[in-house]
Amino acid sequence: MLPDTIETDRLILRAPRLSDAEPIFASYAQDEEVTRYLMWSPHQSIEETKDFLEESIAVRDAGPGWPCVITLAGSEDPVGMIDGRPDDGVVAVGYVLARRWWGQGHMTEALAAFTNQVLSLPGIGVVRATCDRANSGSVHVLEKCGYVESGTRQSKFPAFGDEPRACVVYERRASSPS
Ligand SMILES: CC(C)(COP(=O)(O)OP(=O)(O)OC[C@H]1O[C@@H](n2cnc3c(N)ncnc32)[C@H](O)[C@@H]1OP(=O)(O)O)[C@@H](O)C(=O)NCCC(=O)NCCS
Repeated sequence: MLPDTIETDRLILRAPRLSDAEPIFASYAQDEEVTRYLMWSPHQSIEETKDFLEESIAVRDAGPGWPCVITLAGSEDPVGMIDGRPDDGVVAVGYVLARRWWGQGHMTEALAAFTNQVLSLPGIGVVRATCDRANSGSVHVLEKCGYVESGTRQSKFPAFGDEPRACVVYERRASSPS
């Protein structure tokens, strides 16, 4: 079981709440640049954000997965999210941060802490992320968190329509250094 909250020097990772819809919608869920390399399209209304949060809360409560919102320490408002979905000992991880906070090391801090917690759980051997090769910010974050390239695959993202994109699969294993 993942702890209710994960704290780092500057951040708190906690379970999502329905009241997070407004700050998430306002700060990043409508932003095309934020969602470019994600599997979801920008939200058109706050109802979409609420629906998404309801699903996240259900997954966090009943499984299978650990969606977390990311807040700056001292604030209740989410600035991003990180999620891990376990399947047979392998956890697929994904993450997003509001553009206002990019380039300050926040996701490196959040992903490092989240990965360490997940890899300390019994039965979990691998955390895996799939990242578009062109998403250099995310590539940097993964490499800084000790993930290594384990393969390649083609993926489609709504922002690119039917065009398949060259993606890299990154993994960190329980025995790898952090
Ligand atoms: C990718 C993302 C999570 C990065 O978060 P972040 O908090 O800005 O990343 P960090 O500040 O921890 O950056 C880690 C390193 O990458 C570098 N970096 C960040 N964004 C970069 C970019 N767009 N291009 C090149 N390098 C970048 C940083 O300078 C830092 O390197 P340094 O420590 O050597 O200076 C954020 O840009 C984001 O939410 N993007 C949209 C959603 C997304 O793409 N999610 C990942 C899907 S696989």
